[in-house]
Amino acid sequence: MNTQIKLITDKPDNVSTVFLLKELEMLQDFGFSKEEIAYVTSKAETKEKLIGIPELGKLKYVRLLDSEQDSLIVRNEALRRNGYDIFQILKKERYNDVCVFDLTGDKDACLAMCEGLLLSSYAFNKYITQDKEKVFDLNRIMLSSPVVTPDDVEEINLVCEAVSIARNLVNEPVGALNAVQLGDVTKVLGEKYGFSVDVFNKSKIESLKFGGLLAVNKGSQDPPTFITMEWKPENVKTEKPVVLVGKGVVFDTGGMNLKTMPGSLDEMKCDMGGAASVIGAMVALAANKIPVHVIGLVPATDNRPGFNAYVPGDIIKMHNELTVEVINTDAEGRLILADALSYARRFEPDLVIDLATLTGSAVMALGHYGMVGMGTANEDEFGVLQESGEIVYERVVKFPFWNEYGELIKSDIADLKNLGGREAGAITAGKFLAHFTNYPWIHLDIAGPAYVAKDNNYRGKGASGVGVRLLYHFLRNRVKG
Ligand code: BES
Ligand code: ZN
Ligand code: ZN
Repeated sequence: MNTQIKLITDKPDNVSTVFLLKELEMLQDFGFSKEEIAYVTSKAETKEKLIGIPELGKLKYVRLLDSEQDSLIVRNEALRRNGYDIFQILKKERYNDVCVFDLTGDKDACLAMCEGLLLSSYAFNKYITQDKEKVFDLNRIMLSSPVVTPDDVEEINLVCEAVSIARNLVNEPVGALNAVQLGDVTKVLGEKYGFSVDVFNKSKIESLKFGGLLAVNKGSQDPPTFITMEWKPENVKTEKPVVLVGKGVVFDTGGMNLKTMPGSLDEMKCDMGGAASVIGAMVALAANKIPVHVIGLVPATDNRPGFNAYVPGDIIKMHNELTVEVINTDAEGRLILADALSYARRFEPDLVIDLATLTGSAVMALGHYGMVGMGTANEDEFGVLQESGEIVYERVVKFPFWNEYGELIKSDIADLKNLGGREAGAITAGKFLAHFTNYPWIHLDIAGPAYVAKDNNYRGKGASGVGVRLLYHFLRNRVKG
């Protein structure tokens, strides 16, 4: 995505425009004719908020903020979606420029509208060679506002760029992005945005005794990688680091417990969605030079039924020496995450957040409307994360984490088993992970919102990049208040 928001002072001629305003009278000063004002007024009486004014050769929209009944959270999300609605028409008509005029002085409102436009302009079209009609590049989103600063615009541009990067990583098929290639791409991103990247190869992974990652990788032709990232600027305001861990299963076939349910394999390139969110968050934080110490960890491999693949009944010794009985090779995410969570202990973190497309159970519980959260961090920490989730509209629902769920993953012949049965699958997966932590920790199961095959508003079809805006907002507020 090359599109950016650009702050302007002069009104450009002959481009599509969106006027954000509170009172209709203001339109007189902005060149609207009497007929147009009468038209907008009649529409406003029917409670329409986004009003299109017919015009040849460009779009002209009015977005009313007057009698808002909704909370700011709901209103801002409605504005992002209006951005998407407008983008759809720009695309259909192939109008390349759009200008948002803020006549409200409401910074949040104009940023939400622009963010919706910008996120909507993302498309994964690098493989389209023939039907160029499908490809549309929005050239510029101009914004004229008395309250929005160049810094605001820069920040939102960079965060949306990070979201696009995450979406590209997920949308890229495993044929072009295996675990080694994911490490290579991350190195390039680290160079570009200024965070450090170290990619452990298979022999290093063996020497660290990452038994979970090695077991899942056994059926693969490609070696695993373990990607470590660090952002620690000189003016860092936090003592101990926050560690972000992302599940990097570059493709999940299920392994020997091959996914056989019709359709269940189709979207499994999404299984490194957690990794993409963590990499995207590192990009967003480093690009915006946020003075927070963050470490990112991504265990990466595909999960395949190769000749020497791990099988049910295998017993694995993990990085922290716990033993795990494999019940089902399709419950692979928790095995690779467990090693990473165990490795995270050496950083004595303030907080660890892992993101993973971990369970079908999370999808069943919430659909794609939110992510499932649980863990051992205190209520306040959870509350602040959930608040960020509401604000950026990447919502987190906190699930119970009662001891009883832990009983379901006890093994008769090893310390743990990798599956707890059909009930409460998202929670038993979380309980499994808890055995590898000894610090405040939040687990986010993003299996629902990470990838949505049908149209999903400004989040787009396919990868949504969910988690990037959430983590950015949460960590930025940790140091900027
Ligand atoms: N990667 C999947 C979870 C998933 C499901 C992600 C749907 C995105 C969309 C995970 O590794 C998995 O296969 N989980 C299984 C485990 C079970 C079969 C043992 C699940 O939750 O269904
Ligand atoms: Zn699986
Ligand atoms: Zn998986």
